[in-house]
Amino acid sequence: MSIKNAATIVLATAGLAGFGAVAHADAAAGKATFEEVCAECHEAADFEGEDAKALADSIKKISAGQMKHKKALKLTDQQAADVAAYMAGGGK
Ligand code: HEC
Repeated sequence: MSIKNAATIVLATAGLAGFGAVAHADAAAGKATFEEVCAECHEAADFEGEDAKALADSIKKISAGQMKHKKALKLTDQQAADVAAYMAGGGK
């Protein structure tokens, strides 16, 4: 029983940590990354109103080489969440 309970706690903690990473996405940090890496080809305003989480997932897939993209990206999950928050806000 105790092993099963421990596994439940680990899963619950992982779930919370994952949620926390998205909840604490830092749009200001994302702005810096966007201007440095993405602005050459993208306007943040084009992404305004998109779902930040879906956008972050796409950017993570691009960074992992799982989604085709004009430029190979090498962003950490945190950077992907940050830049997605900035983009979904339309760069404001
Ligand atoms: C060398 C040019 C270039 C750079 C730099 C670039 N992109 Fe892109 N990206 C494109 C092109 C071209 C497309 C496909 C056409 C489109 O959707 O604009 C695209 C598509 C995307 C998409 C998919 C859009 C959709 O419709 O789902 C995302 C998300 C994205 N880029 C994110 C980024 C992020 C984040 C960065 C910076 C970390 C970045 N891109 C940097 C050229 C670039």
